[in-house]
Formats: sequence, structure tokens, C-alpha cells
Amino acid sequence: MKRKVTKAIFPVAGLGTRFLPATKSIPKEIMTLVDRPLIQYAIDEARAAGIKDFIFVTSRGKSALEDYFDHAPDLEAALRKADKTDLLEILRDTNMDSGAIAYIRQHKALGLGHAVSCARKLIGDEPFAVILPDDVIAAEKPCLQQMIEAYQETGGAMVATMEVAPEQTASYGVLDVARWDGRIVSVKGMVEKPTLGTAPSNLAVIGRYILTPRVLQNANQIGKGTGGEFQLTDAIAHEITQGRDVFGYRFEGQRFDCGSKAGFLQATVAFALAREDLGDEFARYLAQMHGHGQAAQ
Ligand code: G1P
Repeated sequence: MKRKVTKAIFPVAGLGTRFLPATKSIPKEIMTLVDRPLIQYAIDEARAAGIKDFIFVTSRGKSALEDYFDHAPDLEAALRKADKTDLLEILRDTNMDSGAIAYIRQHKALGLGHAVSCARKLIGDEPFAVILPDDVIAAEKPCLQQMIEAYQETGGAMVATMEVAPEQTASYGVLDVARWDGRIVSVKGMVEKPTLGTAPSNLAVIGRYILTPRVLQNANQIGKGTGGEFQLTDAIAHEITQGRDVFGYRFEGQRFDCGSKAGFLQATVAFALAREDLGDEFARYLAQMHGHGQAAQ
């Protein structure tokens, strides 16, 4: 039995410039899919997978995130007084236990590998998960839970992966595959954002990882990579050159790229349609709109 994975790092230091002007004053992780902030989906997935310690790597201008996870005693009191138990319940689901959350500042935007390594002291010597909140994955069994179960068999380091169109590989970390075994692929190399036509496969890294503290050491030792940044992909690939196992996990579920406007909109539509309280009405609206070829002005 491998060691339990109870810690997760959430890199949330990015500026979110693709969503300006909204992100001028709110962190992109607070932007809502229907009525829940992006970060709430990531937290719920982590909780479902047994994560107990939540480590946020933040940057300047992200204090709204810290406030979001704080208790809201005035709001709770007002809802209690008004007998709004359903809303109270929704609010309480967002509460985190005291001491369960830690915030670390990444002082300079030096890349994902650097961001994750900022949490090294809090990780200690345990395996841990990394969740990129931009990647929202709708799945019957949450993606991270699928991976943790697979990791109990494999050990090593593991990244979530899915096939993308060959022309999209330049936007991702890409796996060089040694062997396929159902959902688990053995990896013999990884490249961050390969230039068009040079990708070793079309299996892209998606933002869920189970890593060992050695990867954090690697991130501190190896140099800058693609885009002049310290890449997490390179730090993981370094494990392979040291003779250690790295696996890709082809998860079951639908991934939305909420780091892009189109992906965010697709997720909004998909999550709204899946909601019991909204789905039917929204589906009718979409059908009607489609019929009329209308768009909001
Ligand atoms: C990051 C990683 C990349 C991965 C992607 C998944 O890139 O560096 O390896 O494929 O997330 O979403 P970013 O999208 O932050 O540029």
C-alpha cells in the first residue's frame, strides 16, 4: 500500500489576463460557473478524493480568494434569522475547517514548476496532489479520486491525460508514451508545449497530478524551460531521466478548459443543463434560441 495522499496544492497565482476586464478586480478562480466559483469545483473534487490539507499558491491581488473560504458569521446569522436553511446549507458547504487551508505567496510569476515548489515546506516528505482549477472535469467519479485509486497500484508520479487534436498539442504538456495498459500509460518522456509537428504523441497533460516531494526538488534544480519559465512538466520529466516511474492516467470524464473564454462558456452551458433546478428551463431557452438563430445583443 502506497502512502495516503492527503495534501493538495492549488496554484492560483496567475493573473488571468484572458478574462480582463473582469480579472482587474476579481481573481479568475472566483469567476462563477452557474453560481459556484471555479475554485469551489476544485475543492469539492479534492475533498471527495480524501484531501485534508489545502495549500493555495497565491499572488498579489488574490485576497478575495482568502475571504471566500472564510466563515461569514453575519451572513449566516441573517439567513438563520430569515429561516433560509437551504441557503445556510449552501454557505456551510463552502466552510473549511480551521487550519485546513494554507496560503503561500509566489512573489514572482516564474512558472508552474516554481509556483508548486513554493509549497515544498508544507508538503514535507509525503506524496501530494496538484489541481489546476482552470481544468474543470465533470465525472461520475471525481478525476482525482480515479487517479488516487490508480496510484495505489502504481506509485511513482502520475499526471492526468487525454487525447487532443494534433494541432492543439502546442498548448499542453505532452507525453512520450512507452506502453499503454488500459487507462494507465507508462511515460518515457514529457515535453512542455512542443512546437507544431514535434509532439511525441497527442496525449496532453491535464491539470491533475500526484507527485512526490522529489519533483519539488527537481523544480528547484533544473533550469528554465519553455517560455522562459520553470515548468512543472520538466520537473516531472526529470524523474524519468533519474530512472523513476511516471504514469499518465486517462481519466473518465469531460474536461473543460476554463482558462479560455470558449471553454468557460462551454462549461457554463454544460453545468447549467446538468442542474436539476435550471436544466429544463435552460434547455428550452437554448432550443428556442437555436431555432431563431438569436444571440444577445
Ligand atoms: C499547464 C501546464 C501544461 C498542461 C496544462 C493543462 O499549462 O504547464 O503542461 O498541459 O496546464 O491545462 P497552462 O495551461 O497553464 O499554460
